[in-house]
Amino acid sequence: MIRLGVNLDHVATIRNARGEPYPNPVQAALCAELGGASNITCHLREDRRHIRDRDVELLKEVITIPLNFEIAATPEMIDFACRLRPHAVTLVPEKREELTTEGGLDPKSYRDLKGIVNKLKGEGMLVSLFVEPDKGVVEQCKEVGAHAIEVHTGDFCHKMDKAHTTREQWQLVKPFIDIARYAHGLDLQVHFGHGLHYNNAFWMQVIPFCEEANIGHAIISRSIFVGLETAVKEMHDLLNDPKFSPVTRGS
Ligand code: PXP
Repeated sequence: MIRLGVNLDHVATIRNARGEPYPNPVQAALCAELGGASNITCHLREDRRHIRDRDVELLKEVITIPLNFEIAATPEMIDFACRLRPHAVTLVPEKREELTTEGGLDPKSYRDLKGIVNKLKGEGMLVSLFVEPDKGVVEQCKEVGAHAIEVHTGDFCHKMDKAHTTREQWQLVKPFIDIARYAHGLDLQVHFGHGLHYNNAFWMQVIPFCEEANIGHAIISRSIFVGLETAVKEMHDLLNDPKFSPVTRGS
């Protein structure tokens, strides 16, 4: 089974747009749980543009499925994570001016990523690093002691949406299959995320060792029309229903 991590940042984005207490990310998390989410993800950004400190504290207290806390590897965020001790932390690069996370992190660009990973692991958290599908980078993730990688699917999704032939589609998927095998060989858990939606997420099923997909924007968008519980259930089923697999569809 591929675990579905539901990212609730945009529930907070809508709430903050009007300065009202609703929609409430905790309430959303409970609906996502009912829809079959395996975990809840939220990204506490330096500028607090969507999720706020109190949201994360409440999510940790209330939800019964694991919390995946997405943060930049800054001293402020690492201290926050160590106080809160969520199930998992996913470290991402963060730029103030970006609309959303734009790419994977470069482990070499950190002065002491191993020290940061060790600190989080020492507090009992599972540590995942958000990276591009690059074997060198995956090796560095192993070297710094990460438990998992989350492979950035943003570019993949944009290209897949424009791919017209089966050959093009498989060419896009192949590097993910290779990187998943490689990471698994290094004993890293393999997660995927960013840009996945209802017309491309099924591809995750053909990637060996894909344990988890983290999806936000598409699910929150669809929830406007069908409700959050249903939107989560649909995505969960897409990720786990072999009949949607391109292999069995013969496409
Ligand atoms: N994974 C990571 C590391 C992210 O930064 C995001 C966006 O916050 C997601 C997954 C979810 O991306 P999307 O909202 O495009 O589904």
